[in-house]
Amino acid sequence: MRGLVLKASPRRDGNSALLADAAAAGVREAGHEVTVLHLDDFVEGMLRDCRTCRHDDGACGIPDGYERLLTEHLVPADALVLATPLYWYGMSARLKSTVDRLFCFMSEDHPGSAAVLAGLPGKRVAVLIACEESYRGATLGLQGQFQELTRYLRQDLVGVVVGIGNSRGDVRHDPGDPLRAAADLGRRLFDLRITDYRFDTPRDNAVWSAG
Ligand SMILES: Cc1cc2nc3c(=O)[nH]c(=O)nc-3n(C[C@H](O)[C@H](O)[C@H](O)COP(=O)(O)O)c2cc1C
Repeated sequence: MRGLVLKASPRRDGNSALLADAAAAGVREAGHEVTVLHLDDFVEGMLRDCRTCRHDDGACGIPDGYERLLTEHLVPADALVLATPLYWYGMSARLKSTVDRLFCFMSEDHPGSAAVLAGLPGKRVAVLIACEESYRGATLGLQGQFQELTRYLRQDLVGVVVGIGNSRGDVRHDPGDPLRAAADLGRRLFDLRITDYRFDTPRDNAVWSAG
């Protein structure tokens, strides 16, 4: 399987990057392919008004590497690991722009939309968050946002790791050992079983013995 790890902080040697590297090592250890990319190398612009921005053939008019990121890396991946710092109780703007700009490529006006629409669903998604505040409410909104956007895209949110730290590398000293948790999440990225029932979902009483 192919995993794609996206680093969404401007700090290349920051805390979310450490979590990302730990997860990537785990994916590799489990015998899967993994690519680690930094969003700063691809995404420069924010979503614009597509009506005024698109080229005549419908292609995105923002001149940066987003299309390459999407078509060569994101769409072909079987699983995504999104590593972001917590900014104002949300994801980094670079990651938000990455999500926002899917809108342009999912529109039927875009010449490549069929491949994007076919390629987005079914992926496993893991989220790594680095932040300074450890109370649960700090990341609750962002975790909820990832839950909803993966649900909308028919993807499976298989895990979230929160690492507490502020200065570069601080997350190494978090007693909760989020680097170990991120590595474990990476190792189990393609094996984690997610249960999501409705009242009438046929199932056994035990979750695991039937697995
Ligand atoms: C613009 C900005 C906004 C931030 N907002 C929050 C916040 O709302 N809550 C929090 O706990 N930490 C916040 N922080 C701290 C970072 O999340 C923290 O330093 C994190 O470890 C940075 O991750 P990085 O090293 O991967 O960039 C903020 C930092 C910046 C620069």
